[in-house]
Amino acid sequence: MDYLQIQGPTKLSGTVTISGAKNAALPLITLTLLAHNKLTVSNMPEVVDIKTLLKLLGNLGASYTLEDHILTMDTSSVNDTMANYDIVKTMRASILVLGPLLARFGHCEVSLPGGCAIGQRPIDLHLKAMEQMGATITIHAGYVHAVAPEGLKGAHIIFDKITVTGTANVVMAAALAHGKSVLVNCAKEPEVVQLCEILRDSGIDITGIGTSELTIIGTGGKTIDMVDFEIIPDRIEAGTYLCAGAITGSTITLDKVRHDHLDAVTAKLEQMGCTIDITESTMTIHPSEKLKHVHIITQEYPAFPTDMQAQFLALATLASGTSIIEERLFENRFMHVSELQRLGADIMLNGHTATVIGETPLFGADVMATDLRASSALVLAAMAAEGTTNVHRIYHLDRGYEDLEGKLRLLGAKIERLKE
Ligand code: UD1
Repeated sequence: MDYLQIQGPTKLSGTVTISGAKNAALPLITLTLLAHNKLTVSNMPEVVDIKTLLKLLGNLGASYTLEDHILTMDTSSVNDTMANYDIVKTMRASILVLGPLLARFGHCEVSLPGGCAIGQRPIDLHLKAMEQMGATITIHAGYVHAVAPEGLKGAHIIFDKITVTGTANVVMAAALAHGKSVLVNCAKEPEVVQLCEILRDSGIDITGIGTSELTIIGTGGKTIDMVDFEIIPDRIEAGTYLCAGAITGSTITLDKVRHDHLDAVTAKLEQMGCTIDITESTMTIHPSEKLKHVHIITQEYPAFPTDMQAQFLALATLASGTSIIEERLFENRFMHVSELQRLGADIMLNGHTATVIGETPLFGADVMATDLRASSALVLAAMAAEGTTNVHRIYHLDRGYEDLEGKLRLLGAKIERLKE
């Protein structure tokens, strides 16, 4: 197993190029199951989660190539509708094949994703929506069996809770359903918006894009002539590098970034005393002389993203005064707290709220990554800590950050990947 060794404290400088968004790419890969043509997708992030999902599509019968961040995909040869446990257990987002497979073939069998490190993360809202669209769902031997022999029917669906992959799954199902679907209380994340825009550009009648209510007229089972597209920049990777500038007191520039997807993150960095210059495709962070404390509440987009909570928690350990960080989306997303404490952070946890006493000196130690974003928070803290930090179990990082250590090294970090 690999681990990262980081020497701190460190200063960074220069420019980092942001990769395509993993969380946009995952649903967009499953979207290609609705196409009858071969298509090309550019700016594909080359991270483990993407390779896992491509393997799943390959198992279903799709043929693809991925080279230099360009994916060519042909799903016309797909002849299997079973997403088996071996792959789904390693990546919850595999559930994104449910809507497209059911809509195209009238049936599918998808392993239940089960729990994950950051909480229970059920898929009840995905399943309820498919039932409202006329599917019969049974759960047997750990698999969701979904059947709709006459195809899916458009429906009026009100999501009880805002769900990102749930919205994506139902939008894809509705695109091939018979008749009109009205989806209420949808996620408005940029990744969902891109999915809807590609469907619109491919000829699907879809309105309300970017709002919480989407109306979609389905094709009645006919597959789509899908346009080629480019994945949007990864706003969470970008936010993580902005935090890298802030935590090391460095000026760095992010290239190939969408600043309009980062407004909530930028606002919090500015409240902490940083300055951010923007151009159409770059963001430059100038650090604060002295970071100020902050109050963060994670919520759905456009509010502050839960995927940036761990990184800001690391930042708050260096800020003056007491910061409050409230996690409202996932019940168990504070596992990085005990690891940050190993570096010397002073953090109190009370249910969904972390209280961070700032200006505690951090010292290098051995720490363990617990989930994807928690891992990057540990790397950030390690760059500010005095001495050597070893971050273990970095397979979490590899799932979603493309070449994190290579990019940080180019910025001047002392970071190495070693074998246990
Ligand atoms: C997506 C992102 C993840 C991010 C999260 C929240 C991807 C691949 N992953 O995850 O990085 O942290 O959004 O922004 O895009 N819920 C239910 N029932 C359901 C579905 C969800 O109760 O059927 C709950 C969840 O437990 C959670 C909340 O709704 O409390 C939001 O989850 P959701 O938006 O679905 O997260 P994901 O799409 O899994």
